[in-house]
Amino acid sequence: MSEINERTPNSMISNTPGVKVEGADGSGLMFDHIAKRYDLLNRLISLGLDQSWRRKLVASLPGHGELLDVATGTADVALALAKSYPEVSVIGLDPSVNMLNVGKGKVNRRTLDQRVRLDVGTALDMPYDSNSFSGSCVAFGVRNFPDRLRGMREMNRVTAAGGPVSVLELSEPRDGLFSPFVRLHVHHIVPWMGAILSGNSEYRYLQKSVQAFPPPQDFVALMEEAGITEVKVERMPFGVAHLYTGLASSSVGRENAEEREKSENKASV
Ligand SMILES: C[S@@+](CC[C@H](N)C(=O)[O-])C[C@H]1O[C@@H](n2cnc3c(N)ncnc32)[C@H](O)[C@@H]1O
Repeated sequence: MSEINERTPNSMISNTPGVKVEGADGSGLMFDHIAKRYDLLNRLISLGLDQSWRRKLVASLPGHGELLDVATGTADVALALAKSYPEVSVIGLDPSVNMLNVGKGKVNRRTLDQRVRLDVGTALDMPYDSNSFSGSCVAFGVRNFPDRLRGMREMNRVTAAGGPVSVLELSEPRDGLFSPFVRLHVHHIVPWMGAILSGNSEYRYLQKSVQAFPPPQDFVALMEEAGITEVKVERMPFGVAHLYTGLASSSVGRENAEEREKSENKASV
């Protein structure tokens, strides 16, 4: 299970249809450029808070069956799931081969390769059967989906009905005493640190994509539209991130995803 599974080659992902989110091409190419420095930058930029947020995400998922970590990147969440739940196996999915290569090194070093598999692919067309997973999650990744509704419908489809679907995502603090300081950090310090430490301008995109992410109540509505039920949202300190949790249903999202599959099949005949 230690190999990166390239069922969906990167070249097939870069022109994903349905691009709706400005700046997010869904190909993972941008993350390919920063993969080697990603973990270090993450810790510095979030002042180490990202790990405690990920622990909350992990706690929202079940300790049995097979779990899916979408936009797994360097596999931090996939590894945390495998370490926290000795009974589970985990699949991490991401279009960025370089991010997955860093993740694969970490999986092997922790000798978790029998329980953690990393697949190349996009959230918008997951290479999995419906109802495959006992739970699914995405950490700091949904912001990058070119079509968030489609990605969330896919998460609903591949998760067994009643299984948890959890999303951890950064947000722009809009109120509170500390919000001007947090905004200063996200808008000025993060792109500056990113440019210096990674030698790339990709961290400018981070600032723009966080700013463009919808407010929590709108994202809750989007998850519900995707068919996910009982959606709850938890605000992380200072409002810099939110954890969204819900349950997969066998209704709207699944039917829609299947209808879409059918119409795409018809169109290609
Ligand atoms: C900010 S990183 C988050 C990585 C990891 N989840 C974490 O907690 O550190 C965002 C990830 O989203 C991935 N991504 C971009 N477009 C995607 C898509 N269409 N489907 C799935 N993942 C995508 C990127 O390749 C990148 O690894």
